[in-house]
Amino acid sequence: MTAAETEQKGWLGRSVKRKEDSRFIVGRGNYIEDITLPGMLYMSILRSPFAHATINSIDTSRAAELPGVVAVVTGELLAEHNLAWMPTLSGDTQAVLATDKVRMQGQEVACVIAEDPYVAHDALELIDVDYDPLPVVTTPQAALEDDAPLIRDDKEEQADNRVYHWEAGDAEATDQAFAEADRVVELVTHYPRCHPAPLECCGCVADVNPATGKATIYMTSQAPHAHRTVFALVAGLPEQNIQIISPDIGGGFGNKVPVYPGYVVATAASLLLGRPVKWIEDRTGNLISTGFARDFYMDGKLALSEDGTMMGLRVNMLSDQGYAFADAQPSKFKAGLFHIVTGSYAIPAAHVVTEGAYTNKAPGGVAYRCSFRVTEASYFIERLVQTAAYELGIDPAELRRKNFIPPEDFPYTSATGFEYDSGNYEAALDQALERVGYRELREEQKLARAEGRLLGIGLASFTEVVGAGPSRQYDILGIKMFDSAELRVHPTGKAILKLGVKSQGQGHETTFAQIVAHELGIPPEDVTVQEGDTDNTPYGLGTYASRSTPTAGAATSVAARKVRDKARKLAAHLLEAAEDDLEWSEGKFSVKGAPDRAKTIQEIAFAAYTDHPEGMEAGLEAVNYYDPPNMTYPFGTYAVVVEVDRGTGRWDVKKVVAVDDCGTRINPMIVEGQIMGGLTEGFGTAAMELITFDESGNCIGSNFTDYLLPTSWETPSFELGETVTPSPHHPIGAKGVGESATVGSPAAFVNAVIDALAHAGIRNVDMPLTPDKVWGALNEAGLAE
Ligand code: CDP
Repeated sequence: MTAAETEQKGWLGRSVKRKEDSRFIVGRGNYIEDITLPGMLYMSILRSPFAHATINSIDTSRAAELPGVVAVVTGELLAEHNLAWMPTLSGDTQAVLATDKVRMQGQEVACVIAEDPYVAHDALELIDVDYDPLPVVTTPQAALEDDAPLIRDDKEEQADNRVYHWEAGDAEATDQAFAEADRVVELVTHYPRCHPAPLECCGCVADVNPATGKATIYMTSQAPHAHRTVFALVAGLPEQNIQIISPDIGGGFGNKVPVYPGYVVATAASLLLGRPVKWIEDRTGNLISTGFARDFYMDGKLALSEDGTMMGLRVNMLSDQGYAFADAQPSKFKAGLFHIVTGSYAIPAAHVVTEGAYTNKAPGGVAYRCSFRVTEASYFIERLVQTAAYELGIDPAELRRKNFIPPEDFPYTSATGFEYDSGNYEAALDQALERVGYRELREEQKLARAEGRLLGIGLASFTEVVGAGPSRQYDILGIKMFDSAELRVHPTGKAILKLGVKSQGQGHETTFAQIVAHELGIPPEDVTVQEGDTDNTPYGLGTYASRSTPTAGAATSVAARKVRDKARKLAAHLLEAAEDDLEWSEGKFSVKGAPDRAKTIQEIAFAAYTDHPEGMEAGLEAVNYYDPPNMTYPFGTYAVVVEVDRGTGRWDVKKVVAVDDCGTRINPMIVEGQIMGGLTEGFGTAAMELITFDESGNCIGSNFTDYLLPTSWETPSFELGETVTPSPHHPIGAKGVGESATVGSPAAFVNAVIDALAHAGIRNVDMPLTPDKVWGALNEAGLAE
C-alpha cells in the first residue's frame, strides 16, 4: 500500500499484521493447559458407555483407594449441594453428573480428583457402575412418535420429547400464494450433524480460595461474563466473588459457549477440597459430549409463477436437540433461522414451522460459523432455488437475479417480519459470475459433456444475519444482548481498550485497536486490547454468532468518539481557542484556517493528566454499552466448478469464487482468513465430515480417525471477491464476519457444490458427498463408468 493510499484509507481497510501472532508463533500463548497453580489437583471424567440407561448403583470405593486419588465425585454427592442439575443457556436443565439415568453416550457419570492427571484417569476404570440399558432414540422423528420412550422424565411438565414448536410468517397468505402459483417445487433434505471440533478441547482450572471464598475460574469460555452470572445462579456464590478468566483460546466456533459439567464439577471440587482443580477434556470427550452443530431435517415448498417469480415459501424444520436444549439461543424466537429463511429473495408470503426434539445424544446446536441456525436456513432456501431453476428450466443465475430484493428496497421487511438493513445482491452475483467466467464455463461444460467428461458449475447466494442484539429482541436467560467497550488513554498517549467480548482466534487485539486508531489516530501498536477477564472488563455477552464487531466494535467507536469529545475540550484549552473553531483530522485538533496551531491526541492525553482546565475532571477515558438498533445482514454469492470422475465418483474442485459483502472491512487480511475458514468448513461438510450414531446410540465419529476434518492438503484454493455495502446503522459501517460465522458461508459453499454436482448429472446425494455415494448416483443416472 502506498503512503497516499494509507493516508486516504486511514486505519480501516488495512491488513495490519495480527498483533497476537507474535506470542503464538514463538509458543508464548497462554492456554488453559499452560496454567499451573500451587497445590493443583487434576480431574478426569467417567462417561457413560450407554446412550440411555438406568443407573442402579455407582461404587466408587475401589477408585477412592487408589494412591493419589483425593476424591471421587458422583451426582449423589452433588445433589446434596443442589448441584446435580444445572440450567442451560436455553432455559432447559442438564445433568452435571447423572443420578437417576444416563441419557446420552458420553454423559458425565462421576469424576475423579487426584494429585496427578494419569492417576485421575486410571482411577476411572475402578469405578463400578451398574446400568440397565433402556430403549434408545436416535432421530427426532422417532422421538416424536407416540410410543417413543420419554427421555426427560426428570421434568414434571414434560409429557413427550418435543422441545419447542415455533412458527413465523403468515400461514393464510402463504396458502393463498400457493393456490395462485403456476409451479410448486418441493424439497426434503437433511443438513447432517457436524462438530465444531476446535483444536483446543474444553478445560478449566477452578481455584476457590478457602480463606476469601473467591472463586477464580480459568476456563475456555466464549462468554465469560454470561458464564459468571450462570455460575452465580447455579452455585449460589455471590457474583463479586467469582472471577472468570478466559485466557488464549484455541478456537471456539460456538463450542465454547455452553456451560459444560466439567467446569461445574471442577469448581465444586475446588470449593469442597480447598485446592485448585484442573480439568482438560480429551478429544473423544469433546466430540461426543459437547455442543455439536446442524442436524436439521427440513422439508418445504416454493411457489412460483410460470416465469419464475417467487410467490410463496413453506418450510418445516425438525431439529435433533440431543437430551437437553442447550443452544445458546435467544429466548424469544428461533432467531437467525426465522430472519433469513426467505434468503436474498423478495418472497411476499412465507410460513415457517420449526420444532425441536429430545434424543439420546449430546446437547448442542451451537452457532458454528453462523448465528442461530442461519446455516440451516440459508442451505434450505438455496437448495429450493436450485431445484426450481432445474425444474423450471431457467438459468440459476437469472432465476436469482429476477427474485433478489432490489437495492432500493432496503431497509426491507421480510415475509417473516424482520428488517434487512442493507444489501445489493445482484452486485455480488455479477462479480461472482464475471470472476468465474460463467458464460464461457457453460460452453465448456457442453463441450466437456460431448467428450464424456462431467463438469458442473454451481451457484449459491446467501444472506446472513449477525450481531445480536438489539436487546429489545434478544436476551439469553433474560440477560439482554448488547456489548461493551471501556477505553482509557494513558498520559503518554497510549491506550487500553477493555471489551465484553472474547476472541478465540478472530484477531480482536488487532482489529479493535484499528477501530481506536481510526477514531483517535492512536496507532494500533499503541493500543492494548484486553478481553476475557470478568474482573477487568466491562459486562458483555461474549463472542459467538459474529456479534463482536457489530456490537463491541460499535461500542469501541462510540467510546472513542466520547474520548474525542473530551479531547476537543482539552485542545480548546491548550490552544486557547473556542471548541467550534477546532477541526479534527486524523490524530489531532487544529484551529480552522491555521493548521500549524494544532495539538496531537498524544499531547492532549498528556494534558488530561497534567494541564486540564479548572472544573474539568482529570483523565481521558470513556465507556460504552452499545445496543445495536438492528442486526446486520452480510451477504454474498459463490460459484464452484467441479469435475466428477465417472469411474470412481470422486469429485475435484476446479475453481471456487466467493464474493462476500460484510460492509466496511476493518482488516481485509483477517476477514479473508475468516472467509476461508467458513469455506473450508463447508468443504468439510460437503466432502467428508460426519458424526453419526448407530441404533444403540453409539457415536460414530468420536475421534479424528472416524470424524474426518479437511486439512490444507485436501482443501481447494479459494478466489475471493468483495462488494461493500456498509451497514447503515453501524458507526463505521461494518457487518460481522466472525470465526463462528457468516461471510465465508459454509451453507453457500455446500450448496454451490451440490448444485455443481447436479449440473454434472448427480442429484439427490446426501452429504457428505463421498465418492462411493456419488458413484452410486452416477450409476443410477447411467453416467458411471
Ligand atoms: O464475533 P466474532 O469475532 O466471531 O465476529 P466479528 O467480530 O464480526 O469478526 C471477526 C474478525 O473479523 C474480528 O477481528 C473483526 O474485527 C474482523 N472484521 C473486520 O475486520 N471487518 C468487518 N467488517 C467485520 C469483522
